[in-house]
Formats: sequence, structure tokens, C-alpha cells
Amino acid sequence: MGITVAFGGKGGTGKTTIAGLLIRYMIKNGMKPVLAIDADANSNLNDVLGVKLEETLSDAREMMKKDVPSGMTKDVFMEMKMEQALVEGDGFDLIAMGRPEGAGCYCAANNLLSSLIDRLMKNYDYLVVDNEAGMEHFSRLTQKDVDLLLLVSDPSRRGLTAACRIMDLVKSLPIRVNQTALVVNQLQAEPTSWPQDVLDTFSKDQITILPADPLLAQFDMEGKPTSMLPADAPIVKAADALFTRLLAKDK
Ligand SMILES: Nc1ncnc2c1ncn2[C@@H]1O[C@H](COP(=O)(O)OP(=O)(O)O)[C@@H](O)[C@H]1O
Ligand SMILES: [Mg+2]
Repeated sequence: MGITVAFGGKGGTGKTTIAGLLIRYMIKNGMKPVLAIDADANSNLNDVLGVKLEETLSDAREMMKKDVPSGMTKDVFMEMKMEQALVEGDGFDLIAMGRPEGAGCYCAANNLLSSLIDRLMKNYDYLVVDNEAGMEHFSRLTQKDVDLLLLVSDPSRRGLTAACRIMDLVKSLPIRVNQTALVVNQLQAEPTSWPQDVLDTFSKDQITILPADPLLAQFDMEGKPTSMLPADAPIVKAADALFTRLLAKDK
């Protein structure tokens, strides 16, 4: 049984970092192969995972509008570009969506991309989708049910309100979400109370916290992939415990 995990939340709250930690957790626990989908226009999941990104799918979509070699159908061209955009890591593959569409009509290219991605996803038991705050790409992945939606926030009212808003947005999409959790990142201890909109949107047992970890910050500053933190780093231990608790329900 495969598992699809999607991330959402305001920018800068830790989505990509936690997605990287989850991918590492999955590989460590034999939950392979993983397809990591970087659905943030500002792709950087590859940095967290320590792999190099050559191309994104939006590069392919732009090229489909004007640079398809003669004698090649658009379908074949896009399939080839998708294979080129797929990065092979150790226990996972990564694909980056790139920028959502600019001006002009991209319907044909987007439809083609969606069906190619749907087909690609079928090759993997585990999917991790790192989204941007607006969830633009996510709203297009209509073929797939999400087992676990992790909404990440920093300990700020704006971050928490953004998580609540994304929760509402997701409810309006034709995507079935099995389980949702609010992860308040960079918080050392549970506050005595949460803002009302948080309590209206999430039940208490859906809310968890993850600590700020100076070693993570140091790795980040030094440009080291944060998914390679030592196993005893506080953030790794806390994140692993969280994943075990959340994913156990799906087994
Ligand atoms: N628990 C944490 N402790 C210390 N630094 C963190 C923690 N979580 C995230 N960061 C740092 O915060 C910044 C934003 O994290 P990132 O994962 O890129 O956020 P997002 O993907 O939501 O934009 C990064 O520099 C990251 O290293
Ligand atoms: Mg990110």
C-alpha cells in the first residue's frame, strides 16, 4: 500500500525542510521508492535532499509552445522532457514543477503534463509533494488521493491563519484527504492556548510542534543538505517521532 503525503503552509515555515526529513525517514524505514515532487515555483527541495536539478517541467511546457523538434509529436516530446527532468537520488527520484503558467494559454500543455505526472506517479509507492503557499500545482493533481496533508506553520498568527486558509482551500478542491495535521515548527513548547481560528479548523490532536534546531540552521547556512543531519539531532528525532505517529495509522 502506497502513501501520498502533501505539504502546505506559508512560505518560510519549514515545508521543504520537513519534506526532506520525511523522505529521509521513508527511505530509512524501507518505504521505497519515493517520488519527491517539488511543486514550489522557487524549487529548492533538491538542495535539502542534496541533489542537483537540471530542468523543471515548466521549462518543458515553455518549450512545447515553440521548440518541439519537427517530426516529433508533442506527447513524445513532453515525455522525453519529463524523463530528462527526473532526478535520481538514493532511494528517491525528484521532479520539479517549476513556475506555474505565465500569460497565454497553457491548457493543452498543462493537460498533457497532468496526465504524464499521473502516469509517473503510478511507478512509485510513496509520494511526497512539497507545495507552495498558493497550492497552484496541487490543485491540478486531481487524480490522486492524499493520505496525509501536513500544514506547516511558524509560531506566528499569520502563519497559523495561512494554514487555516489553506485547509479551507483544500476542502474546496476535488481531492480526498484522509488525514491532516498542523505542524507548528520552530516551537520549543506547546503554548497554553491556540488562536480561535486554529481551534475552529483543527482538533487538538491534529496539532503538533517541532523544535527549532540550531544544527539545522547551521547546515542551512553552510549549504549542507539538511536531510543529512545526524540521526540524534533534535529536529530529526522529533520529526521521526511525528512521522511514526502519523504514518502508523495508514499501515
Ligand atoms: N526546526 C527548524 N530549526 C531551525 N531552522 C529551521 C527549522 N525549520 C526550518 N528552518 C529553516 O527555516 C528556513 C525556511 O525553511 P524552508 O523549509 O525552506 O521553508 P518553506 O519550504 O516553508 O519555505 C530555512 O532556512 C530552514 O533551514
Ligand atoms: Mg519550500
